[in-house]
Amino acid sequence: DAQALADSFGRIHNYVRISVTDRCNLSCEYCRPDQAGAAFSPEPLTYDEIASVVAVLADMGVTKVRLTGGEPLLRPRLEELVARLHAVSGIERIGLTTNGMLLASKARVLREAGLTDVNISLDSLQPERFARITRGGDVGRVLHAIGSSLNAGFERVKVNMVVMKGINDDEIESFLQLTLKYPLDIRFIEYMPIGRATEGWQAGYMPLGGILERCSRAGWAYEPVFSDDRGHGAAPGRDVTMDTTDSGPARYYRIKGAAGQFGLIDPVSRHFCMTCNRLRITASGHIKPCLYWNDEWNVRPYIGKAELLKQLFLRSLEHKPGRHKMEDGLKESGTSRQLQENTVRQMS
Ligand code: GTP
Ligand code: 5AD
Repeated sequence: DAQALADSFGRIHNYVRISVTDRCNLSCEYCRPDQAGAAFSPEPLTYDEIASVVAVLADMGVTKVRLTGGEPLLRPRLEELVARLHAVSGIERIGLTTNGMLLASKARVLREAGLTDVNISLDSLQPERFARITRGGDVGRVLHAIGSSLNAGFERVKVNMVVMKGINDDEIESFLQLTLKYPLDIRFIEYMPIGRATEGWQAGYMPLGGILERCSRAGWAYEPVFSDDRGHGAAPGRDVTMDTTDSGPARYYRIKGAAGQFGLIDPVSRHFCMTCNRLRITASGHIKPCLYWNDEWNVRPYIGKAELLKQLFLRSLEHKPGRHKMEDGLKESGTSRQLQENTVRQMS
């Protein structure tokens, strides 16, 4: 198909992440170090505009949409957008990434509108620590939202924990323990150098390599969850433990007998750019072919002009880099040298 969303490295894009607002009701230290809540995009795309862009993308092979923010549930009646996207032919999965503060009362109506997957951020189970990291968040609300999501019957409920040295890494076992009882995907995420000063990042960064060992040490035998076990073949060249169900970046494991599973997302120490299938659209309506790429293409002038919009998407992908440039923002240091070595090894 001449119109497939391929980039210059042959990667096919079937997954779009759409930020529906820049605003957030929390102000996590690692995300918004300079205080916030601030709206950066006074005029986000309307639901009509988003639905029309997604229809064009679906025509080019996109099957999955994830709504992100800021905090997406700050947009009123988000379920109306979900229903509109659910009606687009070709869209098979619709996900939401949220901090969970406003989710509990909405989980069911979102599910009924066609939402299939919910990813909830949760960096600590300790109320005071959670409030400190998020600058005012209520962990009880988030846990309640996780319960409501499980009850609402989503296909998958994932919990994202950004692991930060000296801040929450002592809770890894507590998060692992959650998988014993609940059918959740608990994902440990390496702290990435975005949205925060480099120095703060370096102090908090730790690779996830030690988590499997800690799991064993806690007395839990685990096994990798192979993509094939879920009836999906691993893509060629892809780590067999990668989640190809929805082409996510996590490698999954299950503690024997556990209801849920846990995943490791390590974009810093072993990036997954070579299998990247993602495109982003910012709240202000700009295409971002890579999380770490600043060139942006404004979709607004092309809304309602499908052929021109398709050309714009293809053009943005021609510029998509082979891999992220996370390390460019870092000072020359042991860490950044190590990063570059890993990257060179993986790309060769
Ligand atoms: P699904 O597979 O749809 O569940 O998506 P996901 O797990 O990628 O989504 P989520 O929004 O929960 O993000 C999880 C973590 O992956 C976050 O820390 C994201 O910042 C990170 N992430 C998501 N997409 C990318 C990407 O394209 N590049 C990099 N480096 N990190 C990403
Ligand atoms: N490093 C890693 N993950 C991050 N997230 C936000 N900022 C960072 C960062 N600097 C996570 C959030 C949320 C997901 C969308 O991205 O915690 O779970």
